[in-house]
Amino acid sequence: MRVVLVGPPGCGKGTQAELLVQRLGLRYIGTGDILREAIRAGTAMGQRVKPLMDRGLLVPDSEVNEVVAELFRGEGRPEKFVTDGYPRTYSQAVAFDAMLTQQFLALDAVINLTIGDDEVVRRISGRRCCSNKGCAVCYNVYYRQSKVAARCDKCGSPLMLRDDDQEETVRRRLGEFHKTTNALLAYYRQRHLLREVAATDPVETIYTNIVNAIKQPA
Ligand code: AP5
Repeated sequence: MRVVLVGPPGCGKGTQAELLVQRLGLRYIGTGDILREAIRAGTAMGQRVKPLMDRGLLVPDSEVNEVVAELFRGEGRPEKFVTDGYPRTYSQAVAFDAMLTQQFLALDAVINLTIGDDEVVRRISGRRCCSNKGCAVCYNVYYRQSKVAARCDKCGSPLMLRDDDQEETVRRRLGEFHKTTNALLAYYRQRHLLREVAATDPVETIYTNIVNAIKQPA
């Protein structure tokens, strides 16, 4: 199964991708995580993208396409996968398609998780992630609280707000999403891959709806 998750920041792409990985054994391809790891590691690419990510702007297509293409080179390429936040633009979708075609792989579905901007801002303002790089579990002060306030249940490290989760930056990320999403959705709609799933239900309901949507015939 090869699935793309599309949707605004905070719609729950990461939450749902985690479930698809755990329950269906898919490989996780999350460009946000890969880019944040490059920043932490201080690579040249990390240094180039940090100022953009800190401001809530998209990283250039060429950088992100290369990051993803690299995963498919050589042994151990992902055969079954879920992508979280990639492709995010029309041009990324075209590049991803071309790369998959070269690899004789095809997508099964593109899930568009729909939610309003105000709910996104509320969710993201409540998100707190573990500061321990090796753990990185995320909680939410409104929806998924840790047992001890501001401490990770798994490793006990302090929880913190992600660098780009301040409200002003979240609003800019939403702006970027709205600028690019119509062309992206039109591209996948034309290929009969697009499925809409409401992202405002409880996590388990959304998961069931996603799995049903993937099985839906084109
Ligand atoms: P990225 O890391 O991909 O962030 P994002 O797309 O902005 O999405 P988030 O991680 O904020 O949210 P999510 O949809 O995963 O929701 P989550 O499950 O965490 O990208 C960050 C940056 O990297 C971008 O701004 C850009 O600069 C760059 N970048 C990455 N990919 C790129 C690309 N392809 N092209 C160019 N630039 C790129 O949930 C959010 C919160 O809500 C959590 O606290 C969660 O617990 C809670 N929650 C989840 N589901 C529910 C629910 N059903 N009910 C209640 N609460 C819920």
